Amino acid sequence: MQTYRLAIIGFGNVGQGFTQILRDEGAELAQQYGARFQIVAVSDLLKGSVHDPKGIDPAALLDSIAATGTLRVDRLAAPDRREAWTALETIERSQADIVIELSYTDLKTGEPAITHLRRALELGKHVVTTNKGPIALKYPELKALAEKHNVEIGAEGTVMSGTPSLRMAQELLSAARIRKVQGIVNGTTNYILTQMEAGATYADALKDAQAKGYAEADPTGDVEGFDAAGKVVIMANLLMGQSLTLADVDRQGITQLTPADIAEAKAVGERWKLIGRVETIGDKISASVKPTRLPIAHPLASVGGATNAITFSTDLLGDVTLVGPGAGRIETGYAIVGDLLAIHRKLDK
Ligand code: HSE
Repeated sequence: MQTYRLAIIGFGNVGQGFTQILRDEGAELAQQYGARFQIVAVSDLLKGSVHDPKGIDPAALLDSIAATGTLRVDRLAAPDRREAWTALETIERSQADIVIELSYTDLKTGEPAITHLRRALELGKHVVTTNKGPIALKYPELKALAEKHNVEIGAEGTVMSGTPSLRMAQELLSAARIRKVQGIVNGTTNYILTQMEAGATYADALKDAQAKGYAEADPTGDVEGFDAAGKVVIMANLLMGQSLTLADVDRQGITQLTPADIAEAKAVGERWKLIGRVETIGDKISASVKPTRLPIAHPLASVGGATNAITFSTDLLGDVTLVGPGAGRIETGYAIVGDLLAIHRKLDK
């Protein structure tokens, strides 16, 4: 049995969803894969910080959050360890093998996540992140740093949450040569559009998406299309060997769509979807995020709620479409499990 010590930076929806999976499925994962994932530290800017090299019970972490909204050391298995660590201290001092970076996404600066990831990689730790900022903005640099220190970067949860879109494309489709990727890559806006078509107001639908944990901390990122644009950049750079930036994406969100626009499309058998797309034509690359009216019979038109769908157009296989969850606490928490198991498979060879 191989044990991996984990330090979690950021304990919001995704960190808690992942911890819930470890609480409920940890024993089975250990039995099935021969890998034991042990949380040794958690640090959250607002909720506090705990660490214990002997391991912290996932149930105790979740109970502390449920009871107090904070990580209370006296509620956890380490009553003698009252020293609160910052995120960087946690990365440097927790002796974790893998740092799970889940601080909030900032697509402008990528911080503080870029600093966290750089430090972890420099210290020879594997990293797993669902944070789109550093992957959209600095992937080539982080990847080079990881290679230099012989460690892995897991970023599955940055696109389509736990639905294995990046891994499937990287490992199984890249040899078929991906020429174009397009789809619904933001759960919040797809949820809002679906609810509005069923008669909800924009404000209520957004509130609902926030309550369900789909929306970013600042939902402007979702509704103005920045989140989808970040994912388009990630796919272009990780799957198609490009080096795009957010400025290369022709971006438009859903805030200008009115209930009248939605009703008008519905009346003629069409539906609005926010479509992210990246395509190579010859040696040119074109990338966009745009509200698009699709006939109801179009495969992407039937994808409703927070569900996402991506069609990969390849030379050798034609179109391959993947449909699955694109947001949510357990769904994104599951992406971390997928990345951890991939690291285990690599090290266990
Ligand atoms: N806010 C994002 C969405 C979360 O709604 O899709 C998943 O990246």
